[in-house]
Amino acid sequence: MKLVIGIVRPEKANDVLEALYRAEVRGVSLSRVQGHGGELDQVETYRGTTVKMGLADKVRFEIAVSDPFVEPTIQALREGAQTGEVGDGKIFVVSLEQVVRIRTGETDNAAVTPVGP
Ligand SMILES: Nc1ncnc2c1ncn2[C@@H]1O[C@H](COP(=O)(O)OP(=O)(O)OP(=O)(O)O)[C@@H](O)[C@H]1O
Ligand SMILES: [Mg+2]
Repeated sequence: MKLVIGIVRPEKANDVLEALYRAEVRGVSLSRVQGHGGELDQVETYRGTTVKMGLADKVRFEIAVSDPFVEPTIQALREGAQTGEVGDGKIFVVSLEQVVRIRTGETDNAAVTPVGP
């Protein structure tokens, strides 16, 4: 199991949700975050040129998946979020130790995938 973290442009969040749905990936958390992608903005000040790190609003997806869904999840994030311009965001894939569904006590692969209507 992996936790796929995708940080994307807020205006692309709905496209990502649709792409995830088409890929049959269910179960997702979203949060608003601020981040910086590494670019440094040159700013003129009275004491000379300094650099400033500006923060941009982003949406952070967290998606816990079983191994067969890792690549489809990455593809869905790219499909939904890519514009080709700098700042499209980033995907991090992290090993996931354990998942527990609170209602049933199911664990791991049985617990990552939502069941029923
Ligand atoms: N190394 C990193 N660690 C944590 N968060 C990051 C990292 N790189 C980018 N992010 C997050 O992703 C957001 C978008 O980053 P961004 O798309 O600018 O990445 P990039 O690597 O600079 O790619 P690009 O060249 O397309 O700009 C950032 O605002 C930040 O929230
Ligand atoms: Mg960047």
